[in-house]
Amino acid sequence: MPYNPEIKSTNILEPPSSIKTLEVMLKLIVSLATLLATLPFATATAGVYASGPWGQCGGKIWFGPKTCAVGYHCKEWNPWYYQCVPVAHPTSTHQSSTSTRTSSRSSTTPSPTSTGLALSAKAAGKLYFGSALDNPGLTDEPYLAILSDKNQFTQLTPANGMKWESTEPSRGVYTWTQGDAVLAVAKKNGQLLRGHTCAWHSQLPSWVTAGNFDNATLTSIMVDHCKTVVGHYKGQIYSWDVVNEAFNEDGTFRETVFYNTIGPSYISKVLHAAREADHHAKLYINDYNIDGTGAKSTGMVNLIKSLKAERAPIDGVGIQGHLIVGQVPTTIQANIEQFAALGVEVAITELDIRMELPVTPEKLAQQKEDYKNVIKACANVPACVGVTIWDYTDKYSWVPSVFDGEGAPLPWDENLVKKPAYDGIVEGFAA
Ligand SMILES: *[C@@H]1O[C@H](CO)[C@@H](O)[C@H](O)[C@H]1NC(C)=O
Repeated sequence: MPYNPEIKSTNILEPPSSIKTLEVMLKLIVSLATLLATLPFATATAGVYASGPWGQCGGKIWFGPKTCAVGYHCKEWNPWYYQCVPVAHPTSTHQSSTSTRTSSRSSTTPSPTSTGLALSAKAAGKLYFGSALDNPGLTDEPYLAILSDKNQFTQLTPANGMKWESTEPSRGVYTWTQGDAVLAVAKKNGQLLRGHTCAWHSQLPSWVTAGNFDNATLTSIMVDHCKTVVGHYKGQIYSWDVVNEAFNEDGTFRETVFYNTIGPSYISKVLHAAREADHHAKLYINDYNIDGTGAKSTGMVNLIKSLKAERAPIDGVGIQGHLIVGQVPTTIQANIEQFAALGVEVAITELDIRMELPVTPEKLAQQKEDYKNVIKACANVPACVGVTIWDYTDKYSWVPSVFDGEGAPLPWDENLVKKPAYDGIVEGFAA
């Protein structure tokens, strides 16, 4: 099928980021001070604070409390995120803990009835629930308000802003405007950021594809590009989709300019470049149609095995999750498990479930079931760290512009109203 997953307009509409960065840092300091002053769960011991049930208690760029309320201990999920989890008997401990401490809750603590996709993900032990964000959304206030609600989203991915055509449109000339604007939103909100992407055959400027470079030259161009981009965002990115869409449907390697010129070793070379530029970011290989088991997923399994065998830096497999209502594979959990068994983490990185238009109540009900099943598959496997939807509202979906007559793939409609799919996600995490 004609597949070009992430093409969108690439308007540049943000002012230079240096002023914004300063502004964001000042705001961060102010909000930190506010946070420290209003911390929930102040314990009886003066001056000692603890995070509440399921609260964050450590990790890079975390300046809050590092201890947990009674009955909870601080668990390290990864260097970025430590969470207060029940010591034992989750239900009873949680109840006694909340009932004895309700009075000390501050207004900044989500009330016990708060709901949200990120809260649901967190309760299922996931690191984040996130959304892609493209630069046109940055000036849409109602859109940004929902995107910035951390009960809903604790992670962002720039839909286009860190792709090669955006970051190095001509050789050696780097532009950071779009990527930095998305980073600024994530920082302001305290959301994790996934970087996307270093080596991909699409949205690649023609100076790369049509340059007729020899092996050595293209290798250094690719390595320099990845080192420069990953280095620019060093320390600020949870994970990078270093390689994107390396496979054909039959599990063989796609014949991209990188593969044809450098050979299959382009993958380990670009992974090493990314690791050198940022030692802490998790390095992923990302692809579509590797949701369920099958030839393409087997290709990915074999690649991860060979990368592990040669000790290349590979930390994760990204399952894009561009799916179709009523056609969601039944083997998603088994597939996540086979990736996890290789010793990598797994994330669903670009989830959307499209339908043929017009929208009907039946299709929306099926879409809800489909979302629930995909989320449940991730919820059931501890190595699946989080789920990102490819934007959260149909208003900004890439689907209608690429698939004729199809659309409505996301949990909020064009008017930012929640659809049944939203409840499907919540139910999937609770299942
Ligand atoms: C490119 O060069 C590397 C060595 O630098 C070599 O291992 C690889 O096989 C070459 N690729 C092709 C397609 O000739």
